[in-house]
Amino acid sequence: MRQCEDWGTDSITEAPFWVYTDPDVFDREMARIFCGRSWSYVGLEAELPDRGDYLVTRIGNRSVIVTRDQDGEIRGFLNRCAHRGVKLCRHARGNSRMFVCPYHQWSYDARGRLKGVPFIKGVKQLGGMPEDFRREDYDLPELAIARRGGVIFASFAPDMPALEDYLGDTNTAYFDRVFDGRGLRVLGYSRQLIPGNWKLMFENIKDPYHASLLHVFLVTFGLFRADQKSQVRMDESGGHALLISQRGEQKASEDTKDMRNLRVDFTLEDARLLDPVKEFPDDATVVMQTVWPNLIVQQQSNTLALRQIQPRHPGAFELHWTFFGFDDDDEAMTTRRLRQANLMSAAGLVSADDSEVIKLAQDGIAEGDGRSLMLMGGRGTGDETHMVTEVALRAFYKHYRAVMEL
Ligand SMILES: [Fe+2]
Repeated sequence: MRQCEDWGTDSITEAPFWVYTDPDVFDREMARIFCGRSWSYVGLEAELPDRGDYLVTRIGNRSVIVTRDQDGEIRGFLNRCAHRGVKLCRHARGNSRMFVCPYHQWSYDARGRLKGVPFIKGVKQLGGMPEDFRREDYDLPELAIARRGGVIFASFAPDMPALEDYLGDTNTAYFDRVFDGRGLRVLGYSRQLIPGNWKLMFENIKDPYHASLLHVFLVTFGLFRADQKSQVRMDESGGHALLISQRGEQKASEDTKDMRNLRVDFTLEDARLLDPVKEFPDDATVVMQTVWPNLIVQQQSNTLALRQIQPRHPGAFELHWTFFGFDDDDEAMTTRRLRQANLMSAAGLVSADDSEVIKLAQDGIAEGDGRSLMLMGGRGTGDETHMVTEVALRAFYKHYRAVMEL
């Protein structure tokens, strides 16, 4: 097993390539990060409107069921029969009072409590479970649940801090900026398998430096550009971060000479693709929030989405997108959100670039010995007021090394 000293330096300005490829590191991440002391995003209350509604998702590489029980409470538990380890529920969502294993029909209630074992007393006084078998010893591990603004988080740790303490003041305030108590309306889903390590996705969203360079669409149409008014803000741990920026104009300046992908001569055939309207009280037009360990909250113009990271193995993760609006949106706003969603997800005018470079990064990293460099903007981990920085990546690795003891 890798040790702290294997990192090669105390620094957080470099990450050895093996953190993206080593199966032992991946196993430790699943145990310490995803099954450890963290709040993982698992779904929206709007997805479970009625009693008995459930959804199946993943925390790290563990399949979990999240359900609204008969009292209306949200519950969560491991999706794995205590008998022989069979996946209890094979549907992505549905409605059910009980969860019955397809193999031997052991049945569980909405809290994962074992309620039924067929032939527990045998047949004709033959067979059955031993006298000392107690059903309550085989309940499924129940997850702690936290809810805020209609968003559901779950944890395998029973003694987690409240979500607002976990996020810290700044990240809670920006979370509440989007999830302000209005009812949420799911507009659609998208999912993709990206052939790269899951941390590369977080690094991508925490990295404003690349946005001005890689994304033709963002820089050309002024949606996210290094010469705009911006902030990068972290919580105390470093695990969560916010990139906050304000849209500028489509024109060249002294600051854009390094942006090779800026095309001032490009125009949209259909300008409706970008017709943002102001909907939040502040002047930010884009806020990208990363919540340790598996959530990205995206507000780019009027396209809103949650992206959930589901690691599969060191070299791949699934990215699950949930696009949403609010119950009080009019039809024009819903159409606008959906139109702007063309920037995002697997084939998105912006996001396709990110999936591609994550794959290219993993390809290079997988060649072997080397280190990833995160020196842009200095060596600090404190908040910044510009985009030419990798500070949120350094903050992430500060927290990562502490949790992983690496
Ligand atoms: Fe990007």
